[in-house]
Amino acid sequence: MNKELLNEVHLLEDKAVSEIESASSLQDLEKVRLLYLGKKGIIKAYFSNLKKIGNTGKKRNLGRTVNSLRNKLDQLIIGKGNILKAEGINLKLQSEAVDITLPVRPEKIGKVNPLSKVINEVKLIFAHMGFRAVDGPEIEDEFYVFDALNTPSYHPAREEQDTFYLKNKVDNRRVLLRTHTSSVQIRTMQKAKTFPIKVVAAGRVYRNDFDATHTPMFHQIEGLYVNENVNMGQLKFTIHYFFNRFFGDTGLKIRFRSSFFPFTEPSAEVDISYRDSKWIEVLGCGMVHPNVFRNVGIDYSRYNGFAFGMGIERLAMLKYQIGDLRSFYSNRISWLDHYGFHFSSLR
Ligand code: PHE
Repeated sequence: MNKELLNEVHLLEDKAVSEIESASSLQDLEKVRLLYLGKKGIIKAYFSNLKKIGNTGKKRNLGRTVNSLRNKLDQLIIGKGNILKAEGINLKLQSEAVDITLPVRPEKIGKVNPLSKVINEVKLIFAHMGFRAVDGPEIEDEFYVFDALNTPSYHPAREEQDTFYLKNKVDNRRVLLRTHTSSVQIRTMQKAKTFPIKVVAAGRVYRNDFDATHTPMFHQIEGLYVNENVNMGQLKFTIHYFFNRFFGDTGLKIRFRSSFFPFTEPSAEVDISYRDSKWIEVLGCGMVHPNVFRNVGIDYSRYNGFAFGMGIERLAMLKYQIGDLRSFYSNRISWLDHYGFHFSSLR
């Protein structure tokens, strides 16, 4: 009888172990647990039956066997539970997995207009030479655009055909869209308290011109250096240095041609030829005229200076081989690809 009981317990153990192992979900496992270890479970029933056996060595023996079976099943169920839980988490992770080897979707990025890019490049090169960037208004008073720049009212540059005037005067002065950035020179010198003055000013300028190579609005960048003992050699050095840095290769020729501006004396225009292009005028410059210093209250017996102004569009067209000036303002950026213009470095 005792042997039979022990055999039964062993059969029971085999059955229980295989049921635990084959449980495929936590719910299944719980059913198995209740079946064997629950309050109304099989193990419990064995213990109740043990009570009926007299208090002998056999009883103890059997008791120990059932007890160790209970502990064993308990451990197996806990272990299997952990495995099922981990599998559940893995399944969840798998269902949430992303394929990191997929190539990224192409991003639609905006591009910096080549004019803005060129303005930034120019400012940076001058910053390395110590020129500070300043700004001035686009709607100006004729004093800053013309009078202070030694351009009297009878000067042809003032003609109605060239210049956009506003209807109303302010303080009895005519108001206009600035025709060049040289107005910023005047504003800077008026405000300056210390020397040297060393600035660049970039921005839009307006003239009543419209054809394949002129638009009514275009961009200039102006430079001004005022100090004691400024000379034209420094001006030439600055211009040469700038262009060599800006174009950054050997295919560049630069020539100075004597010229006239009311606000500089002597004056010159600078033409460049880049990669064997024909000569293109890109810049006007000269030594600041004493009348200009007088107009802004700078002692011209002590200080002198040089100034220059250049067209941004032309620089951009040359550097990036852009054929049509009007492309800059067309709002269609596909033409940038056409010219192989890449901006990834500037965003
Ligand atoms: N303002 C001149 C122009 O628009 C350029 C210039 C600037 C010339 C400074 C001399 C000095 O053509």
